[in-house]
Amino acid sequence: MFETWEELEESIKDCNKCKLCKTRQNIVFGVGNKNANIMFIGEGPGADEDKQGEPFVGKAGKLMNMAFQAVGLRREDVYIANIVKCRPPANRNPEEDEAQSCLNYLRNQVMLLKPKIIVLLGSVALKNILGKEYGITASRGKWVEKKDIKYMPTWHPAALLRDETKKIDFINDLKLVLKENN
Ligand code: URA
Repeated sequence: MFETWEELEESIKDCNKCKLCKTRQNIVFGVGNKNANIMFIGEGPGADEDKQGEPFVGKAGKLMNMAFQAVGLRREDVYIANIVKCRPPANRNPEEDEAQSCLNYLRNQVMLLKPKIIVLLGSVALKNILGKEYGITASRGKWVEKKDIKYMPTWHPAALLRDETKKIDFINDLKLVLKENN
């Protein structure tokens, strides 16, 4: 575990722990406020994120920004990262070995950030962080507390693009997060 953000980021720079390194353009380390109470964890970079090196800058990210705005949350107030830091080809789900090789980086980010609240965006984040026994449909909108961190599972923003009715759930889950943080 690295004690500083700089050391951690440096250690990731040339990562070749899994096969995703072969097809990536950029490593998407994470972005946001390193003093944030709230951390968001997604699945993995898509095409736009791979190009720009920043999480949630594509369609799903824009929708997430709009939801943030709707509840009075600013992107610069939170920290955003993903389960895997390199884009899975054709946006497939990260495979078990890829997620496992990358999770130590995320654990190190959590250790440095010390968030009060972690929002788990979708099933891949939920299962990798809280365990395979969790399902997103049953878990979303309900707090899970573990080792002094409160986890709020919710829909992945890309799911809102496919099913508009999920938007209201997402907004409501963000409101719960804001309320808990106040
Ligand atoms: N989807 C994710 O899970 N993460 C991103 O950074 C972008 C899209």
